Amino acid sequence: MVVPRPRLPYAQAMLELSAVTKSFPSPEGGILTVLDGVSLSIAAGTSAAILGPSGSGKSTLLGLMAGLDKPTSGTIRAAGKDLGSLSEVQLAAFRARNVGFVFQSFHLLQHFDALQNVLIAAELAGLDDAEAKAGEALRRVGLGERMHHVPAKLSGGECQRVALARAVVARPPILLCDEPTGSLDAKNADVVFALLKELHQDLHATLVLVTHDARLGAQMAQHIALERGRVVEAAHG
Ligand SMILES: Nc1ncnc2c1ncn2[C@@H]1O[C@H](COP(=O)(O)OP(=O)(O)OP(=O)(O)O)[C@@H](O)[C@H]1O
Ligand SMILES: [Mg+2]
Repeated sequence: MVVPRPRLPYAQAMLELSAVTKSFPSPEGGILTVLDGVSLSIAAGTSAAILGPSGSGKSTLLGLMAGLDKPTSGTIRAAGKDLGSLSEVQLAAFRARNVGFVFQSFHLLQHFDALQNVLIAAELAGLDDAEAKAGEALRRVGLGERMHHVPAKLSGGECQRVALARAVVARPPILLCDEPTGSLDAKNADVVFALLKELHQDLHATLVLVTHDARLGAQMAQHIALERGRVVEAAHG
C-alpha cells in the first residue's frame, strides 16, 4: 500500500462524460430526466467534489461513473475505456480492477468479518496473495486489531474504514465516494476523511467525492455543482 503507483499512462482524462443523460419512467407514465446533458472531464490523479441539493442527481452520476448503471444517452470513458462498449460481465471485471466505491451507509456484508469483506474485493480483482493484501489494507486504515470483527461489532467509523480498505485493496485508479462521512460524527468524519485523502495520494488515484459538507468539498481540486441534473458550475478550486 505504501509503494506509490507509477503515474498512469492515460493521455486523456481518467473520467470523461459527454452529453450524458439518464431518465427513468415516472410512475405517472411520463419520463423523469435525472441527468440532463452532463459533460465533464476529470484528469488522472486529481480530485473532484460533486455538490448540489438533494435529488440533483449526484449519486446517479457517481453510479454511472462507476459503471454500476448505464446512461440513457451519451458516452462515459473511464480509465481509457468506453463503458458503453462493455458487456455486463466485462463491466463487472472493469469495476473490480479499476473502481473503488465508498457508500454513506458502508454496504459491508454483515455475516463476514472485516478481513473477509476486504478479501472478497481482492479476489474479485484477481489479486495474487489476496489475503495478505486484504490484511495489509486493513492495517493501513488502522484496523490490524479488528480483522476478525463482523460489522455489528465495529463502530460506524471503523465500518467506514473497512469500506475504505475494501475500496483501495486492488489499488484502483478511480476512487468514488458517495457522502463517505455522511453517517459519522464529526470526530470519525475527520478520521475517515484524512485517511481518504492519504489513500488518494498514496495511490495517485482519481478521487471523486459527493458531499454536502462544504468544508470537505473545498479540499478537492475541482468542483462540479449539479442542479436538477445539469452541471451549473464547474470550477477548479
Ligand atoms: N432507479 C430510479 N428510478 C426512478 N427515479 C430515480 C432512480 N434513481 C434515482 N431516481 C431519482 O433521481 C433523482 C436524483 O437522485 P440521486 O439519488 O442521484 O440524488 P442525489 O443528488 O444523490 O440526492 P441526495 O443528496 O439526497 O443523496 C431523484 O429525484 C430520484 O428520485
Ligand atoms: Mg445521493
